[in-house]
Amino acid sequence: MFKKLSHLLVVLVTIFCTGYAQAQHHVNPDEIKQKMKWFADAKLGIFIHYGIYSVKGIDESWSFHNKKISYPDYMSQLKGFTASQYNPNELADLIKESGARYAVMTTKHHDGVALWNSKYGPLNVVQKTPAKRDLLKPLYDALRQRGVKTGAYFSLIDWSHSDYPGFLKDSSRYQVKDQPAKWAKYLTFMNGQLDELAKQYNPDLWWFDGDWEHSAEEWNAAGVRQKLLGYNPNTIINGRLQGYGDYDTPEQNFPVSRPAYKWWELCMTSNDNWGFQPQDKNFKTPYEIISIFTDAVSYGGNLLLDIGPKGDGSIPAEEVNLLKELGAWNKRNGEGVFNTIAGMPLGHYYGASTLSKDSTVVYLFVPAKTSAPVLIKGLKNSIKKVSVLGSDTPLNYKIVGKISWSVVPGLTYITIPENLQDKYMSVIKVELNGKLDLYRGKGGFLTNE
Ligand code: GLC
Repeated sequence: MFKKLSHLLVVLVTIFCTGYAQAQHHVNPDEIKQKMKWFADAKLGIFIHYGIYSVKGIDESWSFHNKKISYPDYMSQLKGFTASQYNPNELADLIKESGARYAVMTTKHHDGVALWNSKYGPLNVVQKTPAKRDLLKPLYDALRQRGVKTGAYFSLIDWSHSDYPGFLKDSSRYQVKDQPAKWAKYLTFMNGQLDELAKQYNPDLWWFDGDWEHSAEEWNAAGVRQKLLGYNPNTIINGRLQGYGDYDTPEQNFPVSRPAYKWWELCMTSNDNWGFQPQDKNFKTPYEIISIFTDAVSYGGNLLLDIGPKGDGSIPAEEVNLLKELGAWNKRNGEGVFNTIAGMPLGHYYGASTLSKDSTVVYLFVPAKTSAPVLIKGLKNSIKKVSVLGSDTPLNYKIVGKISWSVVPGLTYITIPENLQDKYMSVIKVELNGKLDLYRGKGGFLTNE
């Protein structure tokens, strides 16, 4: 009797925990898988953090919020924001060259300064800065002309707006529960700006930020989702709308185990800051970017790689170089990345891998100048051909340790000749007979155990 009760208890706890975990996500993946196809295949997006914070080269919005600089001093950057070197066509060319399939531009950060001529408030670069122009339309037009999907980063937080509760890290204007009418006024403003962005730019993807400051109920997150899908049922919403988004957005935090979400995107800076900061020279190398990118893709995710234009709109030389090198690598090795699915489970190859959508091809990512043979464990398939992307030459491979009377497959060792290796990351293409079939056992020899 006791045994039955404890079993029932385990079942109930499991249901509660699973049920609770599901409550964090109000979107049924089965209902959106069609619209998510391009996102799942895209693998690489470019994030652009451009705003008045680029003038002094300080933390975007956070610098005044965390009282590193006074609010008036932060806002004095309005008069230095010229965008004189902001060239949307050149920027779109660079994004296209990187191999990215989408680009996400800051439309308004937590500081409340809109990059378009919003009629819902004068705090925008058209009315309040020497730039005097809409920075969104020319870029979105240029991206669309190049077949790159458009994304709108929009901060739900607006620390400048007099109807928004939050302001500095240690001082707020009010609490929502104390002044619901004031909060309702803010929501009218926020939704008005969302209406403007949806009608004027119709972004393929919304990248919300700042949802952590209020609940789904206070944001009316369900209503925001419904509104945006009403304008465009195929638009994608990121996972920062208090559970009403379509994918998860780990930020700078590199997953070690595969995220549970069906779709996810790692957003990451090129150096250590989202916006331009002249003192920050800690740029990741092309190799580091490529290894992070292939790592995310091997887990079935996307990489949203950030650049931060200077106050005049020009792109730092280091970031131009990174995007060009990444693009050149993608040109050589894109077959192993784009339109693939997550690779083999951990344990079969000690590196990143992806699969063709029909799982008959395995792509192995091999760091440059690897002289040692590459090992695959547990591969039950026989191999049709092994090659390295960029060359049609069949590579030699050797299977060792296969015991005739055992079901356990041998170990496959593949050697990449030095002259065929990529300068950053080689991609070995293993064409299989049939769909990938892996031995996952513990070394049993008469069964698959
Ligand atoms: C964090 C920061 C914000 C930045 C964003 C990018 O949410 O608040 O400054 O724009 O990350 O993902």
